[in-house]
Amino acid sequence: MSASSVATSEGRMAQAAGASRALHPERWDLTSAEGELSLRGTSLAGLADRWGSPLFVVDAHRLDENVRRFQQVPAGVEVFYSYKTNPVPAVLQRLSGLGVGAEVVSPYELWLALRLGVAPGRIIYNGPGKTPSAARTIVQNDLLLTNLNHREEIALVAQAAAQLGKRPTVGLRVATSDSWSGKFGVPIAGGQALAAYEEALSHSSLRVVGLHAHRGVAIEDAATLEGFLREVLEFCDTLHARLGLAVELLDLGGSLAVPTVLPLDGSTLPLDERVQRRLTIEHYLALLVGQVEDHFRRVGRPMPRLLLEPGRALTGNTQMLLCRVSSLNEAGAVPAHAILDAGESIAHILHREYHEIFHVERWGESSSETYTLDGPTCSPMDRLRTAIELPRLQLGDTLAVMDAGAYLVSFSNSFCFPQPGIVLLEQGHETLVRRAETYEDMVDRDAYAREVSR
Ligand SMILES: Cc1ncc(COP(=O)(O)O)c(C=O)c1O
Repeated sequence: MSASSVATSEGRMAQAAGASRALHPERWDLTSAEGELSLRGTSLAGLADRWGSPLFVVDAHRLDENVRRFQQVPAGVEVFYSYKTNPVPAVLQRLSGLGVGAEVVSPYELWLALRLGVAPGRIIYNGPGKTPSAARTIVQNDLLLTNLNHREEIALVAQAAAQLGKRPTVGLRVATSDSWSGKFGVPIAGGQALAAYEEALSHSSLRVVGLHAHRGVAIEDAATLEGFLREVLEFCDTLHARLGLAVELLDLGGSLAVPTVLPLDGSTLPLDERVQRRLTIEHYLALLVGQVEDHFRRVGRPMPRLLLEPGRALTGNTQMLLCRVSSLNEAGAVPAHAILDAGESIAHILHREYHEIFHVERWGESSSETYTLDGPTCSPMDRLRTAIELPRLQLGDTLAVMDAGAYLVSFSNSFCFPQPGIVLLEQGHETLVRRAETYEDMVDRDAYAREVSR
């Protein structure tokens, strides 16, 4: 999407937000006393005062609650968190403690999962970038499942397994007609995935019992989920009929959308209505499990173990980004520019998604002004919102960017400014789980003369 089309659809979305008065803070359990927002009794402005701004805040209660919601499914469905979504060790360790496995896509993520104490039998390895050295590491670790992304990975992993005298459990990532494709997976269409399975089954060093399908494009409604599952389940039947393969591990990936994160598609429907139409975790699981169970009952084959790899749906709405107005440029520009201490280097995803943004000290005050929210760097792309209605801003005002628990921390960089700290809030107790980056951190890996005499 070009910068100008983003601006246009954002404009329409902003009008829609105005029309439905934006989403209400109580969707995130935020309460307001005289306009000042708090999370479970802790003032958001107070958090920014104590820990600095910008700051990520993890809501431990909501994180645990989301895990519980995902786990309220019949036995046989297992949840593996996609590490790249929010790779904060304290968050990952908490998830692991609650029984959530790890979905990793690189040797680093595998190392991290093992270091955090995740058992190899609770780890799924995915991703399109497996090198010979990564293949050996994967094979050596006896993981629950390794999904081969494309045909060329079959021989790579089979060879590593044969050399190491191992027989890893593998699946193949397949691409349905409406999922991400290109570098991701082998298309079911044209018999390509079937041919890849035939090749994989010819390697005695591979235990081929898995099937992986991650849609990539967000699943927002029941019809999309139904169509995606139908193609995958029909392919299970093809594998059985043509190759005699009964899939034992059916890995259906992630992709469930966060209801309050909306695509920048220019829709003018009121925001509440749009959120209401989207799948909840409970609805998604009920539909998914129902359709898979029905299918295997109908074809008379045993149900495979069902594996899910949620990312954004598990952690997206469990974290927020607090930031402050560091400057106002109102010199003739309409709307006026509010320059924040956080921008695209930590919240780049706002270029592609609508996230709710609240004024933390004066929520509910009439939104009398329209602002463009810019980040602090010298890049014209450093913009979080083209037009947002807010009370008249003053320097130091705090804003909360909601649903910051997916793909913000992971895509953060230190362009001109250090990266923020992360505080975990649990029953009124604040724990700094990642300190803010320092200038020293930013040059720590560089070789240069550190003591320069002036
Ligand atoms: C293979 C795989 N599984 C799971 C996920 C998590 O996706 P999401 O955040 O859409 O649930 C991703 C992210 O793209 C992925 O690539």
